[in-house]
Amino acid sequence: MSVARIAVVAGDGIGTEVTAQAQKVVEAVLPGTEFNDYDLGARFYNRTGEVLPQAIQDELARHDAILLGAIGDPSVPPGVLERGLLLKLRFDFDQYVNLRPSKLWPGTTSPLAGIKPGEIDMVVVREGVEGLYVGAGGVLHKDTPAEIATEESLNTRHGVERVVRDAFARAQRRERRHVTMVHKTNVLTKAGGLWARTFAAVAAEFPEVTTEYQHIDAASMFMVSNPQRYDVVVTDNLFGDILTDIAAAVTGGIGMAASGSVNPERTYPSTFEPVHGSAPDIAGQGIADPAAAILSASLLLEHLGHHDEARRVSEAVAAEVASRTPGAPLRTAEVGDRIAAAL
Ligand code: IPM
Ligand code: MN
Repeated sequence: MSVARIAVVAGDGIGTEVTAQAQKVVEAVLPGTEFNDYDLGARFYNRTGEVLPQAIQDELARHDAILLGAIGDPSVPPGVLERGLLLKLRFDFDQYVNLRPSKLWPGTTSPLAGIKPGEIDMVVVREGVEGLYVGAGGVLHKDTPAEIATEESLNTRHGVERVVRDAFARAQRRERRHVTMVHKTNVLTKAGGLWARTFAAVAAEFPEVTTEYQHIDAASMFMVSNPQRYDVVVTDNLFGDILTDIAAAVTGGIGMAASGSVNPERTYPSTFEPVHGSAPDIAGQGIADPAAAILSASLLLEHLGHHDEARRVSEAVAAEVASRTPGAPLRTAEVGDRIAAAL
């Protein structure tokens, strides 16, 4: 029996280059892992006219996890691959915990003055399958002066409760044991009310975890002025989308930003991918930084219960990044080799 079955969707542009390094690293810490490649993304779409054929999705479903690189290319109209692949996997595989850690690693610099490595260490638990992302709503009188467009946010007690509970469980395992809920309860009273009541109810189950609530506008400000204050943040799908870009920015950008779209029960595979895109401008040159992809592989290992391996991988990435000479050119494969060798 193999240790784990991982579907690899390397995708487009630098996605293929960085994913090869992530795979190399997983092979180094977890020999015997089975990898199966799936050619999806812009190239596949341009060739076949399809984004995610059902037969391929059924095959993906039979894996323990999906390691994804990046998808997208200027040749594909915006939205096609995002909705048809990334969001489809999130929804169909019930990946309701969108996990986005942000840490200021040694060797990286925050654009914020006076913040030292180690001082920012947070994880945003973004709800992944509800909210404004469900695509509810409609358009009336299209292309007329009377056009009306609505976009509805879906929030269920079940959906909010399970993601909030996940955030508390994570906080319970962390040193600071603090959860900040972010929403806009003063304006979005219906969905906000559900979130606030659910948050209070779940908080009562975790007496050791301290809690705090912030509106999204205030949280966006504090994320820039005082990101050190956050430990675990839980929020809805769209607020989490925005907030995690800010969190990545204050920890030195997307070079180290990893993410997981997680189905915690493992009923379906979870997807792990760097936050960065396919970067067509530097694709094919072997100069993309694979750190975020490798850290995403570490999240994958953690999710599959390989805690020790996950920790060793993230420590090896941290050590490699800390050892870099500022301004020196970076070779994708060499970074992967160095990290794999350190394991
Ligand atoms: C992300 C991306 C996606 C999102 C897009 C590409 C659909 O921005 O993973 O954060 O909005 O969730
Ligand atoms: Mn985003």
